[in-house]
Amino acid sequence: MKGIKHLFGIAGMSREQINYLIDLGDSFTEVNRRSIKKAPTLRGKTIINLFFENSTRTRTSFEIAGKRLSGDVINISASTSATSKGETLLDTARTLAAMQPHVLVIRHSLAGTCEFLAEHLENCAIVNAGDGAHEHPTQILTDLLTLKQPWGSPEGKVITMVGDIAHSRVARSHLLAAKIMGYQMRIVAPKTLLPSQVERYGCEVFHDFDEALPGSDAIYMLRVQTERLTDNCCFPSIREYHEAYGLNMKRLKSAGSDCLVMHPGPMNRGVEITSDVADSVQSRVLAQVDMGVAVRMAVLAALCGGGDEA
Ligand code: NCD
Repeated sequence: MKGIKHLFGIAGMSREQINYLIDLGDSFTEVNRRSIKKAPTLRGKTIINLFFENSTRTRTSFEIAGKRLSGDVINISASTSATSKGETLLDTARTLAAMQPHVLVIRHSLAGTCEFLAEHLENCAIVNAGDGAHEHPTQILTDLLTLKQPWGSPEGKVITMVGDIAHSRVARSHLLAAKIMGYQMRIVAPKTLLPSQVERYGCEVFHDFDEALPGSDAIYMLRVQTERLTDNCCFPSIREYHEAYGLNMKRLKSAGSDCLVMHPGPMNRGVEITSDVADSVQSRVLAQVDMGVAVRMAVLAALCGGGDEA
C-alpha cells in the first residue's frame, strides 16, 4: 500500500493513506453483506494475532477479516504463549516470524512494542492493535468509516470525546487523526484524566460536559481505563463521575437529534453512558463494530499487496 509497510499508528500517516484505507474498507462492506462472506484476496497469506491484553472486538474482527478474505489466521493470547513460561517478547515474536507469516497483529500494554519488534523482524508486516496508552490506529479508521456514510467527509465536523483521555490510545490516535483529516476535537475530562499539555494537539478542552454539547456532531464516550490507573484517586466515586461525565438522554437531547453517539467498547453502562443512550437510534456503537471488520479487511489486504486488485 502506497508507502506503508507496517501500520504502527496514525502518526506519520497522510490524509491520502487514511482515505485509501477507509475507501477500501468501504468496498469490503459489500462482502460482509453477502450470504457467503468470502473473497480470495488473502489466499495463501498467513496472519498471526498476538494479543497480550484482553480484547473482544479487535481480536475477533481481525480474525473474521482475515478469514473472510481467505487468509489463514492464527490467534495467540498472552496466557497461552511461551512468554508465560519466561520467554521474552522478542523471542516469541522471532519464533512466530520464523514460521513465515505475512502479517503479525500485535496488542501489548507497552507503548512502542510494534516499532521495537519491526526493527528485529524483517519478513513480515506488523499491525498495531493497541499499544498501551499510545495508539490504536485501526479503531480510528473504523470510526472514520462509520462516519463516512452519514457525513461524507469528517472535515469541519466536531467530535466531542469524553472520559479518560489520559490513558486512552483511542483518544491519542483520534487527536492525531483530527489534525490530518481536518475535524475538530473537543475534549471533556476531569483534570486528573487529562494528559499534560493536551492543547498541543489543537483540541478544545472542557471540564464541564454540558458546555461542550452544543455544536457537537458526535459524542464519543470512553471507558475509564482502570487497568492503567496507578492509583484510584482520579475521581471521588463512580456516582459522581457519572453525574459529571456520563452521557444521559438529557445531555444527548441538548446536543441535538443529529448528534451521533460513539464508543469503542467495551461500554460500562451506568458509568460513562446510560443504557437508553447506548441503545438509542443516535448510537453508532454496533455500526462501529460492523465497520471494524471491513477496515481490518482493508488493512490486511493493503499490507499483503491485495488492496488494488480488491
Ligand atoms: C479500546 C482499546 O482497547 O483501547 N477498545 C477497543 O479496542 N475496542 C478501548 C477500551 O478498551 O476502553
